[in-house]
Amino acid sequence: MTISVPQVEIKKGLDEVYVKKTRISWIDGQNGKLYYRGYSIEDLAKHSTFEETAFLLWYGRLPKRDELSKFKSTLVSFRWIPDELVDLMKRVPRKAHPMDILKIGIAAAATYDPELEDMSSIANIRKAMRILAKAPTIIAAWHRIRNNQDPVEPTNDLDHAANFLYMLNGEKPDELSSRIMDVALILHAEHGMNASTFAAMVTASTLSDIYSAVVSGISALKGPLHGGANERALRMIMEVGSPENAESYVLRKLAKKERIMGFGHRVYKAYDPRAKILKEYARMLCEKKGDMRLYETAIKIEEVVLRELSRKRIFTNVDFFSGIVYHHLGIPSDLFTTIFAMARIVGWTGHVLEYWSENRIIRPRALYVGELDKKYLPIDERCTSPEERLEFIGK
Ligand code: ACO
Repeated sequence: MTISVPQVEIKKGLDEVYVKKTRISWIDGQNGKLYYRGYSIEDLAKHSTFEETAFLLWYGRLPKRDELSKFKSTLVSFRWIPDELVDLMKRVPRKAHPMDILKIGIAAAATYDPELEDMSSIANIRKAMRILAKAPTIIAAWHRIRNNQDPVEPTNDLDHAANFLYMLNGEKPDELSSRIMDVALILHAEHGMNASTFAAMVTASTLSDIYSAVVSGISALKGPLHGGANERALRMIMEVGSPENAESYVLRKLAKKERIMGFGHRVYKAYDPRAKILKEYARMLCEKKGDMRLYETAIKIEEVVLRELSRKRIFTNVDFFSGIVYHHLGIPSDLFTTIFAMARIVGWTGHVLEYWSENRIIRPRALYVGELDKKYLPIDERCTSPEERLEFIGK
């Protein structure tokens, strides 16, 4: 028996499907604009700090001086991670991807949170702050452990971004590096209902805890079509090596119908405004290093990709230049996606908190197009054609 399949429209990739109302951010994809709580990303990148932006995204307005100071000191007090978590990281295979360590670290940190099961708004925002504060400590500790170095304890006297660079490299960063890191975090803090935010929200909609929601977000962000693209974009720029090789490289890839990392976006059908800001920082950092090779190669790749693909409305996205920026801040490429996650914790938890105010479990449908009432055959009577043999069994 077969069923009559109802005429429903399946929106592949949930394209243009709205799942909630939000006041957190707005992307004007046609014009390449991004707003957090009504403030343009350009203004925030120019005038704000990551902590102030986190406050804005969570609480819906910019803080007054005393509020910001209290907010920052609370975050600082949450930076430490338990020794047992450091011991746990020491037992993990050294080749583990940092995004997997971040998942382990956040999941483990949940078990130490005294308010884990408290679902009041105030406890949930405190948990979000703990996750935000501890993520850089976990990432930096892992990086040092895998290089046989002792983790560097967080310090009280540096802001979030600078403290991360300090824990990673063991020395206090200069002002320009601190500021660029801070802006990179601002740019990645929030971006509407992307795949990882949706993943976090699906988990939260079951009234699971906020740590579990963040672990879901990290898991979705790891993929190369989402947060994993910046690591691959830098690898590509390095592989191309010089501007002269860019044209043939890009054309070869496109002829093979391969994707160029750092280009294209589901929502932006214009140049990603975050990429514009990072492009400028990439240039500044390359100039400071006295080595323009990566920047010039990237510019040439971009020129060819835009020439070839802008008619399909494919433009540069945030991941294309961020790799160069992080590379020149002394951050190894397999940590790039964790930095994205470190910032996006604000967006994930912000959306979770907003969704919880009118929660309903997320439960879509799948359209069944298979058969029904098939006869169950005893195991020895089953036969399969060679084509049906499963790969893990072998032909
Ligand atoms: N390189 C080459 N062609 C591309 C690219 C790209 N980077 N992106 C899209 N296209 C092409 C597709 O092949 C498709 O062509 P076709 O119509 O001839 O088949 C067309 O553009 C439309 O692409 P879709 O797959 O429909 O775009 P979608 O919205 O589903 O995907 C995505 C968006 C996943 C970001 C895609 O552009 C991509 O794979 N980009 C590369 C990975 C990347 O940079 N990801 C980071 C995104 S930003 C972020 O998550 C932070």
